This record gives sequence, structure tokens and C-alpha cells, in this order.
Amino acid sequence: MKSKRLNKTDIHPDFSEEMDLFMRNVYVSYDKKKIVLHNISLDLNKGEILGLIGGSGSGKSTILRCLTGQIRTHRGYVRTANCDVIKNNDELVNKIGYVPQLEYLSLYYEFNALENCIFFGRNYQIDPEEIKTRARRIFEILGFENEAILQRPVKRLSGGEKKRVSIAVGLINTPDVLFLDEPTTGLDPHLRISVLNFLLKINREFGTTMVIVSHDLEIVDYCSKVVILNHGRMTGYGRPVELIESLPSGGRAVLIEVENIDPERKMERILRIDGIEYVLNAGRNKLKLFVTDTGKISTILDRFYEMNLNVKSFSIDKGTFLDYFRLRGGVSIGDLE
Ligand SMILES: Nc1ncnc2c1ncn2[C@@H]1O[C@H](COP(=O)(O)OP(=O)(O)OP(=O)(O)O)[C@@H](O)[C@H]1O
Ligand SMILES: [Mg+2]
Repeated sequence: MKSKRLNKTDIHPDFSEEMDLFMRNVYVSYDKKKIVLHNISLDLNKGEILGLIGGSGSGKSTILRCLTGQIRTHRGYVRTANCDVIKNNDELVNKIGYVPQLEYLSLYYEFNALENCIFFGRNYQIDPEEIKTRARRIFEILGFENEAILQRPVKRLSGGEKKRVSIAVGLINTPDVLFLDEPTTGLDPHLRISVLNFLLKINREFGTTMVIVSHDLEIVDYCSKVVILNHGRMTGYGRPVELIESLPSGGRAVLIEVENIDPERKMERILRIDGIEYVLNAGRNKLKLFVTDTGKISTILDRFYEMNLNVKSFSIDKGTFLDYFRLRGGVSIGDLE
């Protein structure tokens, strides 16, 4: 049977009202020559957190621009917060918040944190007193513990504090969906985790659906779903646990330590052993083997001995998202930086 062609006004048959984000078969080109997004399809339910991971130029910000209706897609279907992103853009703007990639684009550095919130809150016709009450509540969750810090011009705040002011501005209209373009970039590891923990608190307290763009795999622990992007194409998409379980043997791996000999030099032969699908380097003389069947371990160990690789120890280990990323993401970790 021939499938029915969708009109621009039709709601896509796969869409459900539980979803705050919905993209199907989206292609984008800025200049009508180079396609920068190829066939992107994703969805996310209300209250969930989506992570967009990929190297520079992979299309992360472009996906945000599509979902917020800042650009038109070349082809495909997009719906955010149950609005047509182009036709109902006025309605959409009131239902979303946006924290841009560089906070200096969103903040007035001479103004303090509260003044920034009041300034941007007025765009949504919110009463200044109401904005102040909301802002104080948000800053409390974001860990701004004293009044003095709220009164200090933004230019005299630290990098992590500026990020949090930028997040507060994005939240001032109590959006259904908050888009955060690299909220942790440029922060040291300790601050990156603290910003992510603050975001999780906001998500839990207000039920805000979130999209977090990042170069760092550490966001995965906070995400209900992740998208891995490589040159405008999705090389991974789904719930982190399900992605890990999609690896051989449901994501269970064999961690093996060999004695004295550098296994790297025998890698090609190891990969040819029957039952081994993938091998990852797991440290000095340590390998992580992904096997088709963990019941075949003893025959695999026999092959190691035959190759003069003396196995010192082995154990069954759980695969991690990092393993999934290294094996299936199609992006090298170095390219994320
Ligand atoms: N306004 C634009 N006009 C033309 N091409 C653009 C424009 N913005 C982005 N591009 C191109 O589209 C591709 C995707 O860019 P995008 O900004 O979405 O990447 P990104 O993943 O957000 O990168 P980064 O991590 O550096 O922010 C890149 O090849 C980029 O050069
Ligand atoms: Mg970007």
C-alpha cells in the first residue's frame, strides 16, 4: 500500500503528546550546497533529558536551531513542546528557554544576576516582582547562597557563576523545554559536575525537559537519551543502558590481564580468535574483550595460551557508555575536544 504523503499541517503519525521533542528525517543545509544534517530522527518525552554529543562542526548547535525554529529544515518534520516550530513560533518562544554556547551572548556584564533576569524576563511580559521571586528561587537551586553574589556585576563573577546566571536567564519564563548549548565547556572538571548536578535539580524540581549539548561524555550519566553525531549523521541514538546492552553478550565484557607480553603487538591475531567481536585496550597489559557468547571464554583463553599470551587474571566486566562510544560512535575521543 502506498503511504500517505504528509501535508505541512498534518501531525506526524509517530508523534504523541507525551513528547516534548520530535524530529523525523530532518535534513539541513545552510547554503543549499553542503548538507550539514543528514536524516536526523529523534524524540524525547516530557521531563526527560537529551544529550547531544559530537565533535566540533558535527551539527549539535544546528539541531538546537531546528528544534527552536531558528532555522528551517531543508526536509523533514520538527515539533517542540507540541508546537510547529515555524508556524507556531510565537507560542513556542514562550514555552522554551535557550542557554547559548557562549554566555557573553546572553548576559549584560555590567548588570548583576538579578538585573539580567529582570531584563530578559520583561521580554515575556512578566511582572518585575514576580521575576525577582522566581529568580531567587532558581538561584537558590543553582547554589547562589548569599544575596551579595546576586548584587555583583556579572563581569566580576567566576566562569562557573556566569554559566549559572546564563542558565537562570534561560529558566526565567519557566520553560517546558530548556536548551543548553555546551553549558559545561570551559569549566574545570569539578565545576562541570556541579553545573550538571544543578541542572538535574532543576529538572527534578520543575520537571523541565532539557537538551544538553556537550563535547564531554560525562553528561551521559545525567541523560535519559543520547544522540552521538558525526559529521551531521547520527552514529548512536537511544537510552544509554540500551545502547550498552546492544553490544555483544548484552554489553558484558571479559576483562583480561596478560603477563609481561605487550598484547598490542598481537592485536590482529587476537581479533581473529573465534568468538571475539571487539577488543579494547583497558590499560597496561589489559584488554577488554566483547565476545559473542560469554560461555566461550575457556576456549578463547586456550587460544591466548597458544599464542604465548599468559593470562594472569580474567573477570566478567560490565560494558560502559565509553566502550559503546569507542566501538560504535564512529568518533575518536580526541575529536571531541
Ligand atoms: N550560519 C551558518 N552558515 C553556514 N554554515 C554553517 C552555519 N552554522 C554552522 N554551519 C556549518 O554547519 C556545520 C555544523 O555546525 P554546528 O555549529 O551545528 O556544529 P557544532 O557541532 O555545534 O560545532 P561546535 O562544537 O564547534 O559548536 C559545520 O560544518 C558548520 O561549518
Ligand atoms: Mg555548537
